[in-house]
Amino acid sequence: MMFGPLFLMALSLLQVPLGDGQGCLSKRSVLTTLRQMQKLLSSQEAAQLRGLRGLRKQLTLLQGNLHKQAAWGNETCPPLAAPSHGRKLGKKAGVGHEAHFLCDAGFQLVGAETRLCQENRTWSGQQPFCKGIDDCSGQPCANGGTCVDEVQRYVCLCPGGWTGSNCQTPAASYWVSLSNNSFSRQPRCAENAQGARQCSCDAGFQMRAGGLCQDVDECQLFQLSHQNRICVHSCVNLPGSYRCVCPPGYLLSPDQNTCEDADECAEQRHNCSRGELCINTFGGFQCVRPECPRPRHNTSYVKTSAFQCERNPCPVESQACRQAANSISFHYLPLPSNRTVPRVLFRMSTTRFLGDSLRFAITGGQGLGAFAVQRSDRHTGELVLTSPVPGPATLEVQLEMSELSKKVLLGKHVFRITAFISPYEF
Ligand SMILES: *[C@@H]1O[C@H](CO)[C@@H](O)[C@H](O)[C@H]1NC(C)=O
Ligand SMILES: *[C@@H]1O[C@H](CO)[C@@H](O)[C@H](O)[C@H]1NC(C)=O
Ligand SMILES: *[C@@H]1O[C@H](CO)[C@@H](O)[C@H](O)[C@H]1NC(C)=O
Ligand SMILES: *[C@@H]1O[C@H](CO)[C@@H](O)[C@H](O)[C@H]1NC(C)=O
Ligand SMILES: *[C@@H]1O[C@H](CO)[C@@H](O)[C@H](O)[C@H]1NC(C)=O
Ligand SMILES: *[C@@H]1O[C@H](CO)[C@@H](O)[C@H](O)[C@H]1NC(C)=O
Repeated sequence: MMFGPLFLMALSLLQVPLGDGQGCLSKRSVLTTLRQMQKLLSSQEAAQLRGLRGLRKQLTLLQGNLHKQAAWGNETCPPLAAPSHGRKLGKKAGVGHEAHFLCDAGFQLVGAETRLCQENRTWSGQQPFCKGIDDCSGQPCANGGTCVDEVQRYVCLCPGGWTGSNCQTPAASYWVSLSNNSFSRQPRCAENAQGARQCSCDAGFQMRAGGLCQDVDECQLFQLSHQNRICVHSCVNLPGSYRCVCPPGYLLSPDQNTCEDADECAEQRHNCSRGELCINTFGGFQCVRPECPRPRHNTSYVKTSAFQCERNPCPVESQACRQAANSISFHYLPLPSNRTVPRVLFRMSTTRFLGDSLRFAITGGQGLGAFAVQRSDRHTGELVLTSPVPGPATLEVQLEMSELSKKVLLGKHVFRITAFISPYEF
């Protein structure tokens, strides 16, 4: 096809001498012309071929360059995601690049650790995933313990007689109970209509090798894991059952599993001295003696109730007295250990509101990091517990409520708050 135009050109050249010399040229001179034309043709042909070869070479070179450019600049594989609970290393997705995969602690990689972006812009291998390591796969619980797989750990539920994290330790109470007749019983057996003997154990007992019914240690079985525990405090195994026990200062509640605070103050089981006030706390009591500040800078207070002091009228000239708090009140808050937050502990407002605004602030105390003050409406401020506090602990915080009218202080009320945090979460 490429030779088409060349032929046409050669033919028209050939026609010129023929058309011009009609009958005038001899046969010989025509032959000579033809030979010359043939020579010309073949030299032209060779030159053309050389030119074509050069052209082809250049084209190939150009093509190669284009291909290279594409491979480095543009040709990429589709983006790869990191497996959940794992990571992907290698951000580049160009041809020839690799991506590597890793799993978080407690997980293992299933599938290709490395994937390569191939020439055809697809990733080699399959997308891997991270599988939680089954902590129970090694059968870590000895002596017939049941393994419960949790994230990055396991828990063994031990059968009666065994204790320890892997059920490897004989439980002293169990062997005591084995030697105590009341923890094992004869099964109840009966013959059915076909004459077969069927035996069963009382509730709270299970059949053991040897055909004896042995007590199920509910405390061992359920007290280990925090979610399933049967007693909020401690558990005592009994033949066929169990009993929950509460720490001193608590009574077992009617549900038999939780502990209720005993009110030592109401039951007169405190040893607070005369002049002290008894404050019931979770699991105990505290003796307190709220006292008004001593007279100072012409300012004095009088006790108006067990938990409140009011300022005496100020001398006409005393600026210091008029700046001092009009009232000081004392508040005692019993709290269980490690309460969830945020939690409103205390609200303050005034019934005799004369000004146009109220301002609330924390002005002192200990353990202040655990508290914040906020406004719940125009007339009410709230003390909020902002971080869980483990007990036992006593925290104090002083709050101030200022009443203003056109930014002039009308009056100030101080609240002294003491939180008694018990050692237990109940
Ligand atoms: C990448 O190459 C394709 C053709 O293969 C083209 O359509 C596209 O515009 C290029 N993208 C960039 C960013 O160069
Ligand atoms: C891409 O190339 C690889 C090897 O070069 C091949 O195994 C795979 O099947 C190809 N993928 C596609 C979609 O053509
Ligand atoms: C056997 O267990 C029961 C129930 O706990 C207990 O009252 C009794 O004192 C124990 N007897 C012996 C000999 O330990
Ligand atoms: C009061 O009783 C508590 C125990 O409940 C004891 O720690 C404290 O010393 C007693 N105080 C007095 C004054 O007896
Ligand atoms: C106390 O009051 C008297 C007048 O009654 C006054 O002169 C004095 O400056 C006041 N002291 C203070 C500390 O305000
Ligand atoms: C406090 O409570 C949180 C959640 O309720 C719990 O995870 C944490 O272990 C508790 N801390 C203590 C010291 O009891």
